[in-house]
Amino acid sequence: MGKRQLMNLLLLGTISLPTAAMLIPYGAFFVPPGKRGANDGTIAKDAIGNDVIAAEWLKTHGPGDRTLTQGLKGDPTYLVVEKDRTLATYAINGVCTHLGCVVPWNAAENKFICPCHGSQYNDQGRVVRGPAPLSLALAHCDIDDGKVVFVPWTETDFRTGDAPWWA
Ligand code: FES
Repeated sequence: MGKRQLMNLLLLGTISLPTAAMLIPYGAFFVPPGKRGANDGTIAKDAIGNDVIAAEWLKTHGPGDRTLTQGLKGDPTYLVVEKDRTLATYAINGVCTHLGCVVPWNAAENKFICPCHGSQYNDQGRVVRGPAPLSLALAHCDIDDGKVVFVPWTETDFRTGDAPWWA
């Protein structure tokens, strides 16, 4: 191999490696987040940041319970315990659709009541009193290997029959 060829090879290697290292993340930027993996779920985290284990959760959260966890994109998300002591297959995003306060669950009233401007949502997060214009967003709540996993809800909102406004 001639000296010139060797220098060309070295130059090519020097240029191509950093270029590839820059182009791969650049290309990944244009791939929509939902298409990145087969499983785009997020493991629910409890108040101290631990993964939520479904069986453990149900030992300490009774029928009708709605407790906040950390959900998709870090949003506060309610896990719902059904009357038969199972986890609901949906979870409720706790961010008020009016101006974004986190809406507390009021067990005595069986509603979510926003402390900021008084909007109310029923026990499934459907808006029942304004000024909030929309129901609380939903996420799928699955169990994978014993852990609670949230998956984006892109189907019809079962509470209203409408397309999901948050998708
Ligand atoms: Fe909830 Fe205004 S932010 S009612």
